[in-house]
Amino acid sequence: MIFLLLTLSAGLQLDCKTECDGDHYCYLGQCYSCFYFRKQWEAKIPDFGVLIGKGNEVPAYSCQNDTEHLDELQHFLHPNETGFNQTIYVGLKYQCVHYARNYWIQKFGSAFPDVDTADQIFNLTYAIDYGNGIYRNLTKFYNGMSNNIKAGDLLIWNKKQPYFPYGHVAVVLDVQLEVEIPFITIGEQNYDDLWDSNYYARKLKISLSNFGLVYIINEREVNGLQPQEKCKDYNGSADDVIIGWVRLNY
Ligand SMILES: *[C@@H]1O[C@H](CO)[C@@H](O)[C@H](O)[C@H]1NC(C)=O
Ligand SMILES: *[C@@H]1O[C@H](CO)[C@@H](O)[C@H](O)[C@H]1NC(C)=O
Ligand SMILES: *[C@@H]1O[C@H](CO)[C@@H](O)[C@H](O)[C@H]1NC(C)=O
Ligand SMILES: *[C@@H]1O[C@H](CO)[C@@H](O)[C@H](O)[C@H]1NC(C)=O
Ligand SMILES: *[C@@H]1O[C@H](CO)[C@@H](O)[C@H](O)[C@H]1NC(C)=O
Ligand SMILES: *[C@@H]1O[C@H](CO)[C@@H](O)[C@H](O)[C@H]1NC(C)=O
Repeated sequence: MIFLLLTLSAGLQLDCKTECDGDHYCYLGQCYSCFYFRKQWEAKIPDFGVLIGKGNEVPAYSCQNDTEHLDELQHFLHPNETGFNQTIYVGLKYQCVHYARNYWIQKFGSAFPDVDTADQIFNLTYAIDYGNGIYRNLTKFYNGMSNNIKAGDLLIWNKKQPYFPYGHVAVVLDVQLEVEIPFITIGEQNYDDLWDSNYYARKLKISLSNFGLVYIINEREVNGLQPQEKCKDYNGSADDVIIGWVRLNY
């Protein structure tokens, strides 16, 4: 009850340098509730099918209200759209798996097999290369156990109730290890449908071990953005549920 009252009051007389606890953001040394900012931001979420950004040229679309579009959800790419000799199943518009598979089709001419939930991608062992009809191996890397991550890898979130009942997948667009705050940028659909820039959905911080092992922290890096952008991460999204990443060998 006390927590609820604190959450609802607009300005709190708490000191902060950069971060505030819980559902608050820091502005000019004071903590403010995310409540009103989140309301504004929710009002801006685009409708189903609206372009929300392009990651390395691969477009992502909003999947808000997809239940109103049930008859048009399955997406196939025909030979006249790809140049390949067969029709390719991309996925359900515009879920996270759809973006990941479309990215690999556009960039690598390859697609991983059908999955029921995004987390199952972590256990897949092959993808089909439509250029030559052969199978390509996939390699999986556990979060925090490898120094090897690169653009095109698929970042996989585990299932977690109540916010990640199917897990989640995003595409690694860029990796920056040599900067003061190491990070990756990712492209994705069906997370919050509001990308932080036209070119990436979110930046995620990397924790680098002394041995150079890469641990992706499931927290939006808002350095350089408005302080209230922190509020885009809701309480359920900051749990450490990133299992690792999957790479197409080519
Ligand atoms: C989704 O549908 C609901 C109810 O039909 C509507 O109130 C809401 O504005 C829609 N949201 C978007 C993003 O279109
Ligand atoms: C591509 O082929 C599909 C299926 O044969 C057809 O429905 C579609 O109109 C074609 N698109 C173009 C741009 O020719
Ligand atoms: C992946 O495989 C492991 C080992 O067989 C299993 O424990 C795990 O549940 C599987 N994960 C998914 C998401 O299917
Ligand atoms: C498509 O082309 C590849 C490479 O030439 C070939 O291996 C494959 O059998 C073809 N598939 C179909 C459905 O024609
Ligand atoms: C792919 O994996 C199979 C089975 O593990 C292995 O035999 C094969 O050599 C691998 N191919 C490549 C190109 O790595
Ligand atoms: C997360 O926050 C939302 C809104 O701020 C609240 O309704 C929900 O109960 C919170 N969930 C958890 C698990 O704290």
